[in-house]
Amino acid sequence: MKIAQIGTGGWGKNHTRVLSQLGVLCAVCDSDQARCKEYGEQYSVNYYQSLDEMIKNEEFDAAIVVTPTSTHTKIATKLIEAKKHVFVEKPLTYDSAEGEKLKELADKNKIILTCGYIERFNPVVDTVKSYVKDQKYGQLVMLEFHRENRMPPHLKDVGIIYDTSVHDIDTANWLFDEMPNVVFARAGTINHQYEDFASIMLGYNDNKTAIISSNWITPKRVRTFSAVCTDAVIVSDFISQEIKVERKEETEIPRNEQKEPLLLEIQNFIGAIEGKNEPLVKPQEALNVTKIAEAALLSSQKGVPIYLDLK
Ligand SMILES: NC(=O)c1ccc[n+]([C@@H]2O[C@H](COP(=O)([O-])OP(=O)(O)OC[C@H]3O[C@@H](n4cnc5c(N)ncnc54)[C@H](O)[C@@H]3O)[C@@H](O)[C@H]2O)c1
Repeated sequence: MKIAQIGTGGWGKNHTRVLSQLGVLCAVCDSDQARCKEYGEQYSVNYYQSLDEMIKNEEFDAAIVVTPTSTHTKIATKLIEAKKHVFVEKPLTYDSAEGEKLKELADKNKIILTCGYIERFNPVVDTVKSYVKDQKYGQLVMLEFHRENRMPPHLKDVGIIYDTSVHDIDTANWLFDEMPNVVFARAGTINHQYEDFASIMLGYNDNKTAIISSNWITPKRVRTFSAVCTDAVIVSDFISQEIKVERKEETEIPRNEQKEPLLLEIQNFIGAIEGKNEPLVKPQEALNVTKIAEAALLSSQKGVPIYLDLK
């Protein structure tokens, strides 16, 4: 198994570490010459400044794309056309029409295409998912997410909805096990070029809702969610991986083993390539998250709810 990585920036360095630890990293590519050289030398693998050169000269089975969102479509298209299995960091694409084409291209070439919705591999999400499935605390009615952290103003090519809220959009769809039929959002800009705070309401069947609150303004790093079920509220922390189940009389703290979500995510991708498991994040699901993000942005601009009919 040989996996190449494109993009060795702020987040990419974590992929490089895990791919190397798993013994599958064969090459890195970054348009920044100093960066690709640094990582190539550090991990003793071939390094390239150009993707075309890497595809021409390197033999590999699959690739992980960890470049800015605006570059995902072009890079993933080249890789799929070269018959490589592809893991694209979130969001799959900026534009949903491009995501649709990417999915079709992957289907046509019988290529595994998956996307980095990493919270599905967070043990707290996994635990809450199993509680919801078994109805351990009754029926899931509402979800509320908070993702807050001050961000440097210059860093991103997209606003907070496409960069940050998408994690919670995907987690909400995953926990409800369905797609929302309506999106209403408000978003604004305080310190950045694009929107840097957003409140998004997703409506699911039977009036079930997810409320997603994200900001790049406040200084404390917060990543939490509450799952309101008919018999308890389950409060989870994505960072500490702690869960509290709040019922009338007592608060239960189920033990949860700490695990690195990125390691589990990459192992899932490798397992899918080897035919041992399905990729957990399907291209249609990742495409739907982009469509919901698009609708949230549009809703915040127009001030109206956007109704959706997603597959
Ligand atoms: N799953 C997560 O928790 C998580 C966290 C952070 C970022 N991300 C995602 O990872 C991706 C990268 O984010 P980042 O914060 O690492 O960005 P970054 O800007 O820090 O790094 C991107 C790297 O890609 C390189 N690059 C840009 N265009 C390229 C091209 N055409 N070919 C080769 N290299 C190219 C840049 O030189 C840079 O080194 C984004 O899609 C982002 O949404 C995911």
